[in-house]
Amino acid sequence: MSKTAPAIQLKKISKSFGSVQANKDIDLTIERGTIHGIVGENGAGKSTLMSILYGFYQADHGVILVGGEVADIPDSQVAIKLGIGMVHQHFMLVDNFTVLENIVLGAEDSGLLGPSLNKARVELLRLEKEYGLAVDPDAIVGEIPVGLQQRVEILKALYRGADILILDEPTGVLTPAEADHLFRILEQLKAQGKTILLITHKLREIMAITDAVSVMRRGEMVATRETAKTSPEELAELMVGRRVLLQVDKGEADPGEVKLAVSDLTVRDSRGVDMVKNVSFEVRAGEIVGIAGVAGNGQSELLQAIAGMRQPAGGTILLEGQSIAGLDPAELRGRRLAHVPEDRHHEGLVLPFEEQENAILGYHFDDRFAAGPFLNTSAMRQEAEEKIERYDIRPPNPKLKTANFSGGNQQKIVLAREMERDPSVLLIGQPTRGVDVGAIEFIHKRIIEMRDAGKAVLLVSVELDEIRALSDRVLVMFDGRIVGERPPDATEGELGLLMAGVEEEKAA
Ligand SMILES: Nc1ncnc2c1ncn2[C@@H]1O[C@H](COP(=O)(O)OP(=O)(O)OP(=O)(O)O)[C@@H](O)[C@H]1O
Ligand SMILES: [Mg+2]
Repeated sequence: MSKTAPAIQLKKISKSFGSVQANKDIDLTIERGTIHGIVGENGAGKSTLMSILYGFYQADHGVILVGGEVADIPDSQVAIKLGIGMVHQHFMLVDNFTVLENIVLGAEDSGLLGPSLNKARVELLRLEKEYGLAVDPDAIVGEIPVGLQQRVEILKALYRGADILILDEPTGVLTPAEADHLFRILEQLKAQGKTILLITHKLREIMAITDAVSVMRRGEMVATRETAKTSPEELAELMVGRRVLLQVDKGEADPGEVKLAVSDLTVRDSRGVDMVKNVSFEVRAGEIVGIAGVAGNGQSELLQAIAGMRQPAGGTILLEGQSIAGLDPAELRGRRLAHVPEDRHHEGLVLPFEEQENAILGYHFDDRFAAGPFLNTSAMRQEAEEKIERYDIRPPNPKLKTANFSGGNQQKIVLAREMERDPSVLLIGQPTRGVDVGAIEFIHKRIIEMRDAGKAVLLVSVELDEIRALSDRVLVMFDGRIVGERPPDATEGELGLLMAGVEEEKAA
């Protein structure tokens, strides 16, 4: 392998799935020892391109050069041998194994038996030290925070000798502090001569950490820029093909009557641990209440309890003045409570179903969609087509299996279903996780339109920027409790301290 040749060169790489051409004649050069960003709209073909490089898919045609030499990468084992590692968007770790076992699992010439594990432990500790990636080798993976799980994924790739590291939307699940930490790690890896390919929708991250950035649109590579010579505005325009409003534009709220009243709510997780502790708040018609907090501080369980997915252990929830105790999600939908769940894969979609089935999932008992005991397929089809058009879901094919849509487009399927139902109360968890800048602009506008149409909106997001941009009032959650309420123009520093549990308001 030549030391001066680019780490990776792609020449005329193309890949189709049926009638969808995900990659069209892609040319891309990644210089050794750099951090190279890849941006592009949802469905632009970023993950597909990286999966080809990692041997997960085969290109229909085109050439890959690794370190200046033509490489045939039929599977990930070969990619790993060539020094390519990938940290997936959805981690591929075994929850009930330890960190050490996960790292060793599947690596060459090592087993989970005593002697090889001991050798692996020594090597792991060396890697941890060399790259400043501290993790307890004996911790159970399922019990450590996502930020640490991701570190385990990175260590796993390094343990296998990765020289080129691909990260597909690594910060989607991280808190701002964890993301900062990840970037320090990436910079350190770069300083040690590693090459990093970073896919992200957050242009701020691109500007902060990359040396160069390539933009994809509709399967094509449309531009590569030196990061220092571009701007978020230019990148957004290159991605979407039009100017994008990167700031939220909204007027004053005009709150009306209380639509959702939560009092003294306590919610336990499946292990019986109190995750929400005596929480009380109200959401009025025509206002957006944002819940800020580091992931894992009870926000998820709070949303699940209000949505009828988890029985509270104590307290009350009133929807338009009536208790919702004992009602299931379907009954709550009937009472005009809409819910965009945080975890679209597990709670929002049935991935093996067609897009059009997910477009009405949970609402299929509606008169509109019923034809006697059967489903009125043409009504379902029409509904799906309208939403595809309005939310720009790509590809515009209601019969495509949902699993075959890109991550951001899957998110749009759930949003379209829940937001277009004229709800009275709208619960939204992580509305823009994994969606592109153009779609974020659209979704934020829709959320504000919903507010202005008199809906009560409860927003949970780990993106502090998003909470501040959309909310009329911000509640900060820490360790299961609401530790403060602030106006949305409170400084990031002030909110950050509350989120970290450093400063707490005296309970009024
Ligand atoms: N296994 C598959 N079968 C059919 N179509 C697929 C498959 N994988 C990807 N596609 C299609 O290829 C296109 C590119 O998808 P890809 O996942 O690469 O997009 P992306 O740029 O990563 O988008 P996102 O930002 O939403 O993650 C999309 O139209 C997608 O629906
Ligand atoms: Mg993707």
